[in-house]
Amino acid sequence: MIISGSIKDTRAQVKEWKKQGLTVGLVPTMGYLHEGHKSLIERARKENDRVCVSIFVNPMQFGPNEDLDSYPRDLERDSKICEDAGVDLIFHPEVSEMYGPNFCGFVDMHTLPEKLCGASRPVHFRGVQTVVSKLFHIMPADRAYFGQKDAQQLAIIRRMVIDLDFDIEIIGCPIIREDDGLAKSSRNTYLSSDERAQAVILNESLEEAMKAIEAGEKDADKVKQIITDKLNTCPLAKIDYVEVVSFDTIQPIEKIEGAVLIAIAVYIGTTRLIDNRIIM
Ligand code: PAJ
Repeated sequence: MIISGSIKDTRAQVKEWKKQGLTVGLVPTMGYLHEGHKSLIERARKENDRVCVSIFVNPMQFGPNEDLDSYPRDLERDSKICEDAGVDLIFHPEVSEMYGPNFCGFVDMHTLPEKLCGASRPVHFRGVQTVVSKLFHIMPADRAYFGQKDAQQLAIIRRMVIDLDFDIEIIGCPIIREDDGLAKSSRNTYLSSDERAQAVILNESLEEAMKAIEAGEKDADKVKQIITDKLNTCPLAKIDYVEVVSFDTIQPIEKIEGAVLIAIAVYIGTTRLIDNRIIM
């Protein structure tokens, strides 16, 4: 397995594989890998001749008061996980390699980033789109793998690839959960044991909403109320948002029909967690 911090060397290696007629899968991550990341890597391993994983805690997608400095990092452990999963190349650049001295080029879009996580994290999706565009240029893969855990991110990347004509297929992969239903996240390590126990409320509230929808509920406001009521039973939970939107446009909808994203963000103590259901 190659570990490279160099844009030039990484691009040369991927181009070499492409020249040999090999297919390449890319899994962009910020590291501190868990089962969720692993599921993307395993899928990429199955569907491609070569697999690249990027590990880069991207400063541009963190706001000034967010957890950039405390975000967990462990390259040694991540390398072992990648090696065991059959990864061919880890791209692990320094911040200075990705953002040179006079850097001022950004990738952004209207509408999709404005609601949900974009409302409380104004620079976040511009940072994600910019770094993912750069990763697609550095590693011109055939397919890139993203988790439905970050459903708005997935919708934005899909839109970006269509609108800007990136020659790469975006594959969305299901949410991997702990045994009690909490969605796996690198940020779960911030939770105290009491907070960790109460964090299951996110998944439980979505489960109640899905039961109502399966029983015929079509009113988006009623679905939001079911989720809000359930979250409010949890003493440590503070709601950031509960939204029902079109998965294609990330705009609010009144009726549950077509591709629907039910998305929530909740503070458990000081840790902000997200979860969702996508109905196709
Ligand atoms: P990160 O949070 O490390 O996540 C990397 C990928 O793993 C994302 O596509 C995310 O949706 C997926 N993922 C995380 N938890 C998951 C889970 N429980 N089940 C399934 N997939 C899961 O998302 C980012 O990094 C960054 O924004 C990035 C795209 C790398 C750009 O910097």
